[in-house]
Amino acid sequence: MTAKQIFLTVAILIFYFVMETNSRFEFTNLNCTSFDMGIGEFEYCNLKSINRSYKYVSGKYKLHQIPLPIMKLNFIMWKRLNGYRPFLYNITVDACRFIENPKSNPVLKYIFDSFTGYSNINHSCPYTSDLIVEKLPIGFLNHRVTEILPIPEGNYLFEFRLIRLKSIFASIQVYFTIS
Ligand SMILES: *[C@@H]1O[C@H](CO)[C@@H](O)[C@H](O)[C@H]1NC(C)=O
Ligand SMILES: *[C@@H]1O[C@H](CO)[C@@H](O)[C@H](O)[C@H]1NC(C)=O
Ligand SMILES: *[C@@H]1O[C@H](CO)[C@@H](O)[C@H](O)[C@H]1NC(C)=O
Ligand SMILES: *[C@@H]1O[C@H](CO)[C@@H](O)[C@H](O)[C@H]1NC(C)=O
Repeated sequence: MTAKQIFLTVAILIFYFVMETNSRFEFTNLNCTSFDMGIGEFEYCNLKSINRSYKYVSGKYKLHQIPLPIMKLNFIMWKRLNGYRPFLYNITVDACRFIENPKSNPVLKYIFDSFTGYSNINHSCPYTSDLIVEKLPIGFLNHRVTEILPIPEGNYLFEFRLIRLKSIFASIQVYFTIS
């Protein structure tokens, strides 16, 4: 099957979970790691709780090399069973080509659309200023994940690896549960 067919199949399968309107999305952890300080580093990357209903995620990747070099983005979805196992998606794209044509990858486009409204990253290459995600509200994600494209209950990890010349220079791990 092509990526598009897989996406459609999955979309149809999870359609059945739409009935479970009580499902809830909760961030459990966030782990941003810089492996190559020559390229950049995370100045912050955190989850803040203002009160029971208002929580948000913020992060800043400070560029040490300008512009940000041509890179590949590898997205892996993991689900916790006995330890985390790859689940459904393991996608690698050329980051600049994807940004210029997000429709080329519906899965990544869905994720991208979930946070770009709260960031400064929705523009074509080159990237010459620090990458910032500011106060992305969890309520917004909860709506997107559980009502627009619900996924089955469980513990998940979305991992994003930024790759240049076959080596990972930064990674972002987003742990969440759907209950
Ligand atoms: C964060 O991610 C890095 C890179 O994958 C890993 O080495 C480290 O153990 C992780 N830290 C935590 C607390 O999970
Ligand atoms: C939570 O904090 C936000 C922002 O300060 C505020 O607008 C909202 O009313 C608060 N909600 C509750 C239940 O206190
Ligand atoms: C993702 O796919 C690539 C290419 O097929 C493979 O080399 C890599 O091991 C996979 N990663 C995981 C975590 O399964
Ligand atoms: C990203 O930018 C493009 C072009 O300016 C725009 O059409 C699109 O709606 C933007 N996407 C988001 C999620 O803001």
